[in-house]
Amino acid sequence: MDAGTAANYRGGHDNLGDNGGVRGKEGSAAVKVAETGDDILNRIVEICHSYGNDKSFLIQILLKCQEEYNWLSKDVLRWIGEILHVPLNEIYEITTFYKVFNLIPKGKNLLKVCNGTACHVRKAPVLLSKVSSVLGIDPGETTKDMLFGLETVGCLGCCALGPVLVVNDQYYSNPTIGELKKIIAAHK
Ligand code: FES
Repeated sequence: MDAGTAANYRGGHDNLGDNGGVRGKEGSAAVKVAETGDDILNRIVEICHSYGNDKSFLIQILLKCQEEYNWLSKDVLRWIGEILHVPLNEIYEITTFYKVFNLIPKGKNLLKVCNGTACHVRKAPVLLSKVSSVLGIDPGETTKDMLFGLETVGCLGCCALGPVLVVNDQYYSNPTIGELKKIIAAHK
């Protein structure tokens, strides 16, 4: 199948994403905020086309699609497979083998709380619970507006700052609830 518009492929999608760890029913239709299924599909078609619909670029295409949406939904994987003529199970094998691929929604901004040994003894679990309560989600989940994802990570190499929170690429040392609210508001 050659590159085309969303109309060529949309018959195959039943649900925009499988909702992964998104908290709340409203999140179920969201892959990327304010984009419709056809917008997403057209973008996938465009990305595949930019690589000549060549399946030898499958990994690059998957990475590029993930860069757009922060994760790869079931439908996105299926569309890529249809466009490149690659069986879906082959795409799943690749995306589950390489840790770089996210198969659950991650949110536009990713908050990581370090739970390495040094941060843990400096009360990382307390920081995690504060972040969790401000966002209203647990680690591994994404807010229903797809703006924030939360996860725990191992040592980030800046133990002296512990417990450490990283928001995208910005590091924070043991922020208070008030500071957390400001940080989160600044990313809305
Ligand atoms: S243990 Fe958290 S930065 Fe090292």
